[in-house]
Amino acid sequence: MKKLFLSILTALYFLNGMAQLKTGDITIIPEPVLLSPMPGSFVLNEKAEIHYSGQAAGKVAGFLNDFLQRNYNFKLPANGYAKLPRVTAHSVIQLVEASAGNPEGYILEVNTGRVYLQGDSYGLFNGLQTLLQLFPLNKQTAIHLPGVKIQDYPRFAYRGMMLDVGRHFFPPAAVKQFIDMMVLYKFNRFHWHLTEDQGWRIEIKKYPRLQEIASIRKETIVGHHRRSTTYDSKPYGGYYTQEEVRDIVKYAAERNITIIPEIEMPGHSQAVLAAYPQFGNTGGPYEVRTTWGISKDVLNPVNDSVFTFLQDVLTEVMALFPSQYIHIGGDECLKDRWKESADVQRLIKKLGLKDEHDLQSYFIQRMEKFVNSKGRTIIGWDEILEGGLAPNATVMSWRGEEGGIAAAKQKHDVIMTPNTYLYFDYTQGQPATEPLNAAAYLPLKTVYKYEPLPASLTPAERKYIKGVQGNIWTEFIPDQPMLDYMVWPRALALSEIAWSQPGKKNYRRFMQKLPMELGRLNTAGVNFRIPEPLGLESKVVTTPSVTVTLKPPVKGSFIYYTTDGSQPGTRSTPYAKPFALAVPDNGSAVVQCIVVLPSGRISPLYSATYVRKPYLPALPVQAGKKGVRFSLVNTAPANARQLPATGDSSGVLPAIDIRPLSLKNAGVTFTGYVKIPADDLYEFHLNSDDGAVFYVDDQIVVDNDGQHDLVDKSGFLPLKKGLHRIKVQYFNVGTGAWLDAGIYRDREKLNPAEVLYIGQ
Ligand code: ACM
Repeated sequence: MKKLFLSILTALYFLNGMAQLKTGDITIIPEPVLLSPMPGSFVLNEKAEIHYSGQAAGKVAGFLNDFLQRNYNFKLPANGYAKLPRVTAHSVIQLVEASAGNPEGYILEVNTGRVYLQGDSYGLFNGLQTLLQLFPLNKQTAIHLPGVKIQDYPRFAYRGMMLDVGRHFFPPAAVKQFIDMMVLYKFNRFHWHLTEDQGWRIEIKKYPRLQEIASIRKETIVGHHRRSTTYDSKPYGGYYTQEEVRDIVKYAAERNITIIPEIEMPGHSQAVLAAYPQFGNTGGPYEVRTTWGISKDVLNPVNDSVFTFLQDVLTEVMALFPSQYIHIGGDECLKDRWKESADVQRLIKKLGLKDEHDLQSYFIQRMEKFVNSKGRTIIGWDEILEGGLAPNATVMSWRGEEGGIAAAKQKHDVIMTPNTYLYFDYTQGQPATEPLNAAAYLPLKTVYKYEPLPASLTPAERKYIKGVQGNIWTEFIPDQPMLDYMVWPRALALSEIAWSQPGKKNYRRFMQKLPMELGRLNTAGVNFRIPEPLGLESKVVTTPSVTVTLKPPVKGSFIYYTTDGSQPGTRSTPYAKPFALAVPDNGSAVVQCIVVLPSGRISPLYSATYVRKPYLPALPVQAGKKGVRFSLVNTAPANARQLPATGDSSGVLPAIDIRPLSLKNAGVTFTGYVKIPADDLYEFHLNSDDGAVFYVDDQIVVDNDGQHDLVDKSGFLPLKKGLHRIKVQYFNVGTGAWLDAGIYRDREKLNPAEVLYIGQ
């Protein structure tokens, strides 16, 4: 009987444990290696004590007390011991500096009366971040930490985020806050992009004109540089003094974050040339760049004082940053000036080099020798592969994964930062509802999917992939609120890519954990992008009525919606429970909503379209080659629809993209086929200036025609798997030519390189 009773208890406990996980009580981001809910909970109040052993454990006790003081206005007595006493008193938090099997790993156990955290220095610190996620969201309630047993360690040793402070300057306090946020999700490398065409941001004592001249631009372009010709007439500048740098480096080190400084060379250096025109090819005069994009004016390798300058700069930089890695940039060095210069061409000959790419490689290798001579290692963007890799260089792969794959095959270490997944300056949603941004599309779901170890590498080659990093370029990120908006929650997805074991990565579960974590960030005042409500998904329906079930994307937030096409506001229907939506036969219905946070902040407008139409069948055609045909007309029609079937010139492009065509007062028609991957609802999108029309299987799906500024429109169609005919007509008059045409499935963009074909 007793046995039966016990097993019922065990079963009940087990079920309870399952329920706990299901309801998502314990939601740790990034997901740990092993997590088992345990019975009971630890009541944390002022009567609890901290017992610690080891210096690092004492430090972690200090951080825990800082957290309690900040959030609950009390601290716990913290006592250090060579050997911890047995727990007799109620409520003891034990912090033990002892290996948990991995230098960054930890063991955390919470039960009634005891919290136990064990790890080496870094491990304890990581464990503390997990412990903090066990605290209740509501700070007014008693602190019950749920019973749990966690064993955890990271997948990658390098877990980074890069911040560009060249395009916009972020004051020391903002940099520290950025570091504080990184800490919460177990990042350990802060890549500080300190120099740009648009501004030099670090004090170098030997070259005062860097501070006086290179750190200030006279004005800044307003809006997107590809469309705008307006400037703000306001000087913009800022730099970090060496004292401030030292303070930030120390602040980061105390939080187990290594700062990797980046000094760009030989490109991205127009600000340097403004201060020291003798380092350029033309002699100047130069100004600190006032628009975005990259400069043709780069450092001149013929001038030996350029190398002396860079060595002097790096000497001061290395004195400030203990990091093993020193980032020397190396990306996007336009070769125009080198091609134009007789001196440079003579140097190429004299050195026995093939071309300007070889010369860039010579430049980087020369700097590598210097950095290596100081006991440090260079890291550079993937262009440093061109013309031959410097012997000991680590490669940061940004133009997709190809550079990283090539470097790993050459047995060089790699950090993966592909713009196809990890550029957080790209937009998280559609242009109509998102702030001005770099314009490529990278929603949370796409980021989460990223797998850093390419399938094309052998297991031995994969070992060279040391980690991952999210990059935040700040052309369109002028301040801290916008920085928060672009980084979070995508950096939460990155934390699971970087830390969690591949088998523990699960997008659905991540999305279930997100409301709680965003609830915390809301309380902390972080201006993250509010995600779409869970369940707000466009789909094909087959019945006259569907049930719409939504879940707030942030704990404590409210959803207000409309179904009549009107703009929702806080006076619209608040979402309380699943509701029925009528969808007309051969038609569609739309739910539009906003999310309002407990702080009062309101999301952009989000919507889902429910389409009740038959699927269009695939066409019985051959795919032919990749790409789309274009037909260009050199005079602008009154609207896109009037474009003639044949134009003045034609060809094939990899995507529906007007950039290679340099259009002005002209029109273009793109034709081809899209290979639809599965029977589903597809969204067709046109963001254009001026008009554009999207046809699928000869019917108009988006009509964005007419003469107008940038306008964003979309339409939906249910399509069967296979090939479907597409046509996009576009025209432009005057300035500001812009076309962004995309095909989406479940908010993810189909990759043109994979789905577009010219047909036969
Ligand atoms: C880069 O995005 N130019 C590294």
